[in-house]
Amino acid sequence: SRKPGIATRLLNWYDLHHRDLPWRIGPADLAQGKWPDPYRVWLSEIMLQQTTVEAVKSYFTTFTKRWPDIFALAAASQNDIMKAWAGLGYYSRARNLKACADLIAAQGGIFPDTDKTLRALPGIGPYTAGAIAAIAFNRPAAVVDGNVERVISRLYRIQTALPQAKPQIRILVEQLVPAARPGDFAQAMMDLGATICTPRRPKCMLCPLSQDCTALVAGDPELYPVKLPK
Ligand code: ADE
Ligand code: SF4
Repeated sequence: SRKPGIATRLLNWYDLHHRDLPWRIGPADLAQGKWPDPYRVWLSEIMLQQTTVEAVKSYFTTFTKRWPDIFALAAASQNDIMKAWAGLGYYSRARNLKACADLIAAQGGIFPDTDKTLRALPGIGPYTAGAIAAIAFNRPAAVVDGNVERVISRLYRIQTALPQAKPQIRILVEQLVPAARPGDFAQAMMDLGATICTPRRPKCMLCPLSQDCTALVAGDPELYPVKLPK
């Protein structure tokens, strides 16, 4: 990263204030050198594509209890997977989930570990490939969702409206990603956007990046990201 201060402040905040989510591994496990299971990272990221964190939690727990690894999921029938998916919506995800599980199980259960090779799998687009590469495989991928777009537009007071600003935002995130903990950095940005740098009334007094934030100085964080009039 060319801006180590921002990543360091964000990661220190994340260590203390991260959301406890069932697909994340605890600090005790991390301290013992354990690493997130790619199967669980993949499953959670597919579920989170079009569904909120709150709605995904119970489905993720149910799925991983019933099908604890990729071989168990590959052995399940499409029908059972569809039934377990009922209520999450966007059912093509459940079809792709099974297709992807079959492919990976047939290859010995090993997930591809780069952005590019992940993107070749059914149901995995650029965003999900980057998230899995960063979180499960420690690759320095820039993971940009709506939360991250909001944080970055405020930090840099980006005057370009979305979606035109997306390439610029991606470049700024790429410059921030730390080599050491890219997965935690990605999830820390998401958590910051979801809990502190919220669309309305961001809690700038609690923000680990307040010293870095140009919108806070200008007093106008709620103006970002700029949206075109409808
Ligand atoms: N949204 C997409 N991926 C996520 C993750 N790993 N944690 C929280 N929210 C997410
Ligand atoms: Fe968002 Fe406020 Fe933090 Fe700036 S200081 S990143 S506007 S929460």
